[in-house]
Amino acid sequence: MTGKTILRGQVLSFARSPFEGAPADAVQVDEAVLIDGSHIAAVGTLAAMRAAAPDAAETNHGAHVILAGFVDAHVHYPQTAMIASWGKRLIDWLNTYTFPEERKFADPAYASEIAARYLDLTAAHGTTTMCSFCTIHPESVEAFFSEAQARGQRVVAGKTCMDRNAPEFLRDTAQSAYDQSRALLQKWHGVDRISYAITPRFSPTSTPEQLDAMGALWAEHPDCLMQTHLSEQTDEIEWVKGLYPEARDYLDTYEQHGLLGGRGLYGHAIHLEKRERDRLREHGAGLIHCPTSNTFIGSGLFDMAGLMAEGQRIGLATDTGGGSSFSMLRTMAAAYEIGQLRGVPLHAAQLIWLATQGSARALRMDHQIGNIAPGMEADLVVLDLASTPAIAQRSAVADDLWEALFPTIMMGDDRAIAEVWIGGRRV
Ligand code: GUN
Ligand code: ZN
Repeated sequence: MTGKTILRGQVLSFARSPFEGAPADAVQVDEAVLIDGSHIAAVGTLAAMRAAAPDAAETNHGAHVILAGFVDAHVHYPQTAMIASWGKRLIDWLNTYTFPEERKFADPAYASEIAARYLDLTAAHGTTTMCSFCTIHPESVEAFFSEAQARGQRVVAGKTCMDRNAPEFLRDTAQSAYDQSRALLQKWHGVDRISYAITPRFSPTSTPEQLDAMGALWAEHPDCLMQTHLSEQTDEIEWVKGLYPEARDYLDTYEQHGLLGGRGLYGHAIHLEKRERDRLREHGAGLIHCPTSNTFIGSGLFDMAGLMAEGQRIGLATDTGGGSSFSMLRTMAAAYEIGQLRGVPLHAAQLIWLATQGSARALRMDHQIGNIAPGMEADLVVLDLASTPAIAQRSAVADDLWEALFPTIMMGDDRAIAEVWIGGRRV
C-alpha cells in the first residue's frame, strides 16, 4: 500500500462544466493535492495539505500543471501496430489494414505483447483510462484486461463481435458472440478496476440476429457499457441503409435490437439526422468524438457546438489506430481545429474537460475518475508547459494560465508529460 503524498504545482480541477457559462470560471486552481493510498484525499493550499498530513512525502512540480489523467473514450488497442496506415477511407481501410492485423490476435502471445506495448505508450502520453475494442478473439480481451489489472488501471473493453461482411477468420456467430461475451463479462466485469463493454463492431458487420443477441446480453447486464460505431462516413451510412432496409436511420439499427441506452457509447456520430440526435439525447447516450481519426480517414466534421448546446453527453477519443496519434493532447488540438472549421473555437478549459471529465461522464465513471477532488481515484498527469523549445518560447510570453497552457495543447506530445500517477502509484 502506498502512503501519503503531497504534489505541489498548479492543480486544475473543475467545479462545473466549462460548456455552461464562462469556460475559465469552471476551473479551480489550487497549490497542492494530497494523495492517500489509491485515492485523492484533499485539494487546496499547501498549508492545508501539510496540516492534514504532516508526514506526507512532498514533490514540488513548480509551474507544472497537475490534471486528472486523460480518459480516452474510444480506442482499438489491437490497431496499435498499424496506426498511420496510408491512403484509404473507412471500408477499404478496414479491409486493407485493420482486418489482417486483427487476425494476429488469435495468438495470445501477440495479444499480450501489443496490450503491454499499447498501455506503455498511452501511459507515457498521460492516458490513465481507456475504453477499448478488442478483436473477435476472447484471447485479445484476456490479454488486455490482464495487462491493465497488473498496472492497477481503470479500463473498459470488450470482445468485438462480427458475423458478416468480415473475412471468415474474423467472424463469430450470434450464439458464439453471446456466449463468449457473457463468459468474459462474468469473469472480468467489476474485478479490480476493470469493466466489460458489450461490443458489436457496427451494424454492417453484424446480422440482425447478432445485434439481437447483443441486445439480450445488455438487457441481462444493464450495468455494463455497450460500445459501437455510428454514422462515421456517408458511404457507410448508405451501406447500412441497404443492409437494414426497414430501419428509419442508422441509429434505428441499434435501437430496434435493444442497443440504444444511457450506457451506450457511439463512436464518431458525425452525420446524424434529427431523429437520431433526439433519441441519443433522450437516452443520455455517449457520443464519442474522435477528431484525429475523422480527419485522417476523411470522415467529416463533428458538430461539437450544436450537440453540446442540445445537451448531449460527449466524450473525446483518439480512436487508435484510425486516429493518427496516441496523444490526448494531439486529440484536443484536432478537436480545436475541427471547431475552427465549423466556426466555433473551443476554449482550453473545454478541451481539457472533454479529455478528462467529459470522457469519464460518457463512460459513467465521473464519480471515480476525470477530476481532482476528495474521494476520486488518484489518476493524475503532470504537464510541463515548456517541454520543447518551440512551446517554451511561446508559453514564456503568456499573460495568463490559459495562454500558457494552449501551446502545449496544440503542440505538445509525450514530452510534455512530466509525471503520471495511476491509482495512487507513480508510473
Ligand atoms: N467502424 C467499424 N470499425 C471501425 C474501426 O476499427 N475504426 C474506425 N475508425 N471505424 C470503424
Ligand atoms: Zn472505432
